[in-house]
Amino acid sequence: MKNFNEKDMRERILFLFSQYPKLKKKVSWIPLLNSNTIPIDRLSNLESKVHLSTGAVYIKRDDKNHDTYGGNKIRKFEFLFGRITEKKRDTIMLIGGIGSNQVLAAQIISRKIYPPLKNYLFLSGQPLTKHVQNSLLLFNYFNPKKMCFSSTYYGLLLKILWFKMIHPKIYIIFPGGSLFFSLGTPIGTIGFIEAAFELHEQIKKGVIPEPDIIFIPCASCGSAAGLIVGCKLLKLKTKIHAVSVGDKAFNNKKAMLQNCNKVIKYLNEKDKSFPKLTIREDDFKIIYGYLGTGYGSETPDGKASINLLMNLEGYEKGFVLETTYTGKTVAAMLDFLKKEENKDKKVLFWNTFNSNDLSHYLHEIHLTWENLPKKFHKFYIDNKTENK
Ligand SMILES: Cc1ncc(COP(=O)(O)O)c(C=O)c1O
Repeated sequence: MKNFNEKDMRERILFLFSQYPKLKKKVSWIPLLNSNTIPIDRLSNLESKVHLSTGAVYIKRDDKNHDTYGGNKIRKFEFLFGRITEKKRDTIMLIGGIGSNQVLAAQIISRKIYPPLKNYLFLSGQPLTKHVQNSLLLFNYFNPKKMCFSSTYYGLLLKILWFKMIHPKIYIIFPGGSLFFSLGTPIGTIGFIEAAFELHEQIKKGVIPEPDIIFIPCASCGSAAGLIVGCKLLKLKTKIHAVSVGDKAFNNKKAMLQNCNKVIKYLNEKDKSFPKLTIREDDFKIIYGYLGTGYGSETPDGKASINLLMNLEGYEKGFVLETTYTGKTVAAMLDFLKKEENKDKKVLFWNTFNSNDLSHYLHEIHLTWENLPKKFHKFYIDNKTENK
């Protein structure tokens, strides 16, 4: 594994920092993305399938934005882990569901920091799927100091508060790496403001026409909020369609505006030349109706959309989709593209899920769940996964 080092730091210059040089001195950041500009591919087979007229569909390949583990978290982590290393913290608390991509991504990145960070995992219940079972095995593979579990949010919260009281120096990364009921820091969201700059460069270079719509999953709102702020800052006409894949208590217009406003305030405080943008409710849309019975549940629409897009594009282009986030987002995008009035729209699907193969880690441990702490064994013994 490649460790973060000073040389990498010098090699990449953020678009955001070039535009607002004072931020470079005041906002901590470490380089994690494998390139300054993550590619965009055109989805021509899908375009033909949905019979677009002058419209077009593209995919942002964030799934490959890191050589070990790609996805939206890596963009947030450039700033979150920047802060953690600047504060010289050596231990972090990772909170998420038992199938959390963020927890796994953070464990992987923790090993690349020197010296590697110690991880305490605080996990809550979610519907049992193969993805969840594999995630737990991978969590254990990356050697956390402790894996706590509670089936309810309330129970988990009590454990977290207790642990934080006795370990006040532990750095907490909230679920999604964004604000959590307005707690925490908005700095992860800066990663997606930088992503909007990156998109702007790709538009200028003719890689993609200015999109009318970006489809992106929305759980903690941070990724979508960064794009909303970035597009407004850069005066792009692009509207963000954030597809709700989690509890409405976390993804709603108020939470989205809060995420946007907090990051704007943060950046303006660091550099007065960063404008105090006003984000309005019609600058974005939160799309409901694709969640199913709850966070992590599988939906027939989501599964059918995954099958369709994988067969048309995914296998050929080397990306994968999953049922919690991206499958539901593709389902919403397909419904949008099927409508007659949208046949001329330029649409970008922001692929937030890692597509690097992790199966070698699982094979290394021969898929043995017996090494997990005992409280997790029930997820293998009953073995009633949704997708079996
Ligand atoms: C693959 C994937 N897509 C999207 C999201 C949601 O992003 P956000 O929490 O920024 O709304 C997450 C994380 O929660 C994720 O793991």
